[in-house]
Amino acid sequence: MTANGHPIISISSVTKRFPGVTALADVALEVRAGELHAICGENGAGKSTLMKILSGVITDYEGELLLAGRAVRFKGTRDAEAAGISIIHQELNLVEQLSAAANIFLGREIRGWLMLRDDRAMEHAASRLLKELECDIHPWQIAATLRIGDQQLIEIAKALSLQSDILIMDEPTSALTEAEVSRLYRVIERLRKRGVTILYISHKMDEIFHLADRITVLRDGRLVKTLDRAGTTPNEVTHLMVGREIESIDFGGERRAGEVLLRVEHLSLPWPGHARGWRLKDVSFELRRGEVLGIAGLMGAGRTELLECLFGAAAEPPQGRIELLGRSVAFRHPREARAAGIGLVTEDRKRLGLFAAMNVGENISICTLRETGAGGFINRTREWQMAAETVQRLAVKTSGLAAPITSLSGGNQQKCIIGRWLQTDPQVLLLDDPTRGVDVGAKAELYRLIDGLVKRGIGVIMTSSELPELLTVCDRILVLSEGRLTASFSRAEATEHKIMEAATLGVKKAG
Ligand SMILES: Nc1ncnc2c1ncn2[C@@H]1O[C@H](COP(=O)(O)OP(=O)(O)OP(=O)(O)O)[C@@H](O)[C@H]1O
Ligand SMILES: [Mg+2]
Repeated sequence: MTANGHPIISISSVTKRFPGVTALADVALEVRAGELHAICGENGAGKSTLMKILSGVITDYEGELLLAGRAVRFKGTRDAEAAGISIIHQELNLVEQLSAAANIFLGREIRGWLMLRDDRAMEHAASRLLKELECDIHPWQIAATLRIGDQQLIEIAKALSLQSDILIMDEPTSALTEAEVSRLYRVIERLRKRGVTILYISHKMDEIFHLADRITVLRDGRLVKTLDRAGTTPNEVTHLMVGREIESIDFGGERRAGEVLLRVEHLSLPWPGHARGWRLKDVSFELRRGEVLGIAGLMGAGRTELLECLFGAAAEPPQGRIELLGRSVAFRHPREARAAGIGLVTEDRKRLGLFAAMNVGENISICTLRETGAGGFINRTREWQMAAETVQRLAVKTSGLAAPITSLSGGNQQKCIIGRWLQTDPQVLLLDDPTRGVDVGAKAELYRLIDGLVKRGIGVIMTSSELPELLTVCDRILVLSEGRLTASFSRAEATEHKIMEAATLGVKKAG
């Protein structure tokens, strides 16, 4: 409660309709000052929509919003910021061409003499904020050159710079590795000491139970329940979220590793102008038909770079040898990799995966256009039919194939991208953190899908920021540390502890 006895936020009868979907239906919620309040729910449950209303991003809705007992109606994000509410969005909103510092102070530039923009002061302030986050991004680094995890840290720094009383974090850890997550926890701890109220969205139960004071569950746009963390269990919350039992993941039937699909020998990727010199150094391994190979490692270890090399999408031409089905290959472009039977689901769906101007159906069928056409003629009906099957198979929550892809919730967008590659019938499927932001039910569904695919004879290489996921899905796990292969475990040998040990091998402790 605030000093005057009111909850700091009180929402009542909030309803939000989009064409074809009711994202929120008659939602009521109270948030106490200084608490960390977690919001849970499946993909498309309405979590982000509710947070966008609170932060002034969405302004046309029905219902009431009270801040410390006073009715408010934000006309935009500036209004919300002025009232002390800021948000870290699920889909990052950085201006790619600008530096970290410029992004942090975008629209609120520090001005000095004659109202001139004071770049020095901004870089100084940005550097302080980034230090507070314990990260080594330089304020003048251009956002586009940063990996998604670092970009997320800039979003967090931006929100911190506003010194808000209420901070909304929409899946802040979805692109962070274990080490960065604990760093974020320390930041959250400091914010809480300052009395900041935090609304926290996550699909990760361990996180929610570690951080939250109270938990609110949404399902299909309705508020199911608000619970005290101390009086509930992850099982109960999951149950309330999905409204049914999640079947335990039992793949049933043996996987059988077949012939070697992909052989990588002494792969190295130069890193011009960088002290370490190599993004990848002397990496060798094999992938067989019928197996899932996991790649573990901290952020910056080279997991994404490795997949990019295999897909012909690396920043520099890699050195070493890559063989696909016994033939040496050197893809200069993803197009060539795709024609040879390799698919890649990228970690950064907004930048590399989604076509924002296209609808759901087009996004799913974009890679299969040629396959469905006879003599260059695109068979729309067939294409649409296949897309519809994919939507159904992956349980994508959408009002239809014609809906804009941007209207889907984050997790459902990810399902569309995976579905797109499944349609191309690849020999080798590369999945870079494929379940980022995907809810528990859909995750289990994806694991089963991956299992079905390898049993049909394709080979899968996947990375994940969640170790338990690799331990569930993979037959073998390779560990990268600073671009080098430091360990390889069979599923039977692998434990979280051993993997973490190998992942930090040779890594200098971050100051
Ligand atoms: N701009 C929009 N236009 C149309 N529909 C939308 C729009 N934004 C959200 N929706 C729909 O509203 C519903 C709730 O979406 P929301 O993004 O709030 O879900 P979420 O709970 O945040 O899911 P996730 O865990 O996947 O991020 C979804 O069905 C989504 O498709
Ligand atoms: Mg969301």
